[in-house]
Amino acid sequence: MKAVVCKKYGPPSVLQLIELPKPVPKDNEVIIKNYASAVTGSDVLIRSANFPLLLGLMFRVVIGFTKPRKPILGLVFAGEIESVGKNVKRFKKGDQVYGFNGSSFGAYAGYLCISEKESKESCFVIKPYNMSYEEAAAVAYGGVLAPYYLEKGKIQKRQKVLIYGASGAFGTTSVQLAKNLGAEVTGVCSTRNVELVKSIGADKVIDYRKEDLSGSEERYDFILDAVPHGKIDKKSLKTQCKKVLSPNGKYASINEGSPKLKAEYLNQLNTLFEQGKFKAVIDRKYPIEQIVEAHKYVDTGRKKGNVVITVEHP
Ligand SMILES: NC(=O)c1ccc[n+]([C@@H]2O[C@H](COP(=O)([O-])OP(=O)(O)OC[C@H]3O[C@@H](n4cnc5c(N)ncnc54)[C@H](OP(=O)(O)O)[C@@H]3O)[C@@H](O)[C@H]2O)c1
Repeated sequence: MKAVVCKKYGPPSVLQLIELPKPVPKDNEVIIKNYASAVTGSDVLIRSANFPLLLGLMFRVVIGFTKPRKPILGLVFAGEIESVGKNVKRFKKGDQVYGFNGSSFGAYAGYLCISEKESKESCFVIKPYNMSYEEAAAVAYGGVLAPYYLEKGKIQKRQKVLIYGASGAFGTTSVQLAKNLGAEVTGVCSTRNVELVKSIGADKVIDYRKEDLSGSEERYDFILDAVPHGKIDKKSLKTQCKKVLSPNGKYASINEGSPKLKAEYLNQLNTLFEQGKFKAVIDRKYPIEQIVEAHKYVDTGRKKGNVVITVEHP
């Protein structure tokens, strides 16, 4: 099978497409014929290992000192179950599924094996009939991670919610989920993404290049900082956000806390998707053969929503 391996940390060129034997599922695992993945913010962080000193040390203890211990990268997948181990109860051959494989990675490949059991790190669900594999790979990352942070807001109908970093994978997911909870949503992004954020339902959009949040008269019940680590001075952003919170308002940041993944989050998203109340935001698509170009593009920090990787099978 085709697989992308990362034999050392570094720039996109460290990624190599090679042929590997197809994996064999254990008794509690399914084997998925994978049709799509994505280049997520986490994939580029793992590939580059570009962390500040202490965080970098902790990362290398967990993921691998000079290279990832699990050499095939890729967190999210979408494909068809080809066969199941003898103890698998919840899934069967032919099920079309998508999900998130946590620190086991392995989704930049033609096939991957994954335990049917949901864990804090990985989960997958049956894909809705009207969602393509590419859309499924696009929604998986924000779909399992963003709800963890949104739950911290305990969002009620008509509350004012602000998503800072509304045009990214977390942001586009959060704007849509908050709208579906009945909130009045304001998104913050740069000029070129204002129309995109409006198109996914934001009631108002603040262009951070033209307007400073701390000068706003508005007060918010919940603010989610969805800007990746390293893109902005996080301390000063937090101070700005707290100035515009209502007296009982809550604040969360995607860089604080350890999200617990739940298949339930993806099932809730599936219901919205089936009803046309949630859409996948796909910026670009690359075949797996162009994984280096795809990572170079995401490294620019300018992706909108999601960048999908497609896998063709002979
Ligand atoms: N806590 C955890 O366990 C955990 C787990 C997974 C991921 N993460 C975090 O999530 C990140 C990936 O998030 P993502 O995929 O949503 O990122 P993304 O798709 O790259 O989105 C980035 C967002 O930040 C905005 N942004 C970039 N630079 C900015 C600036 N200087 N000022 C204001 N806004 C700015 C972008 O807006 P414009 O493009 O319009 O500028 C965009 O809306 C990872 O890098 C990691 O930091 C955390």
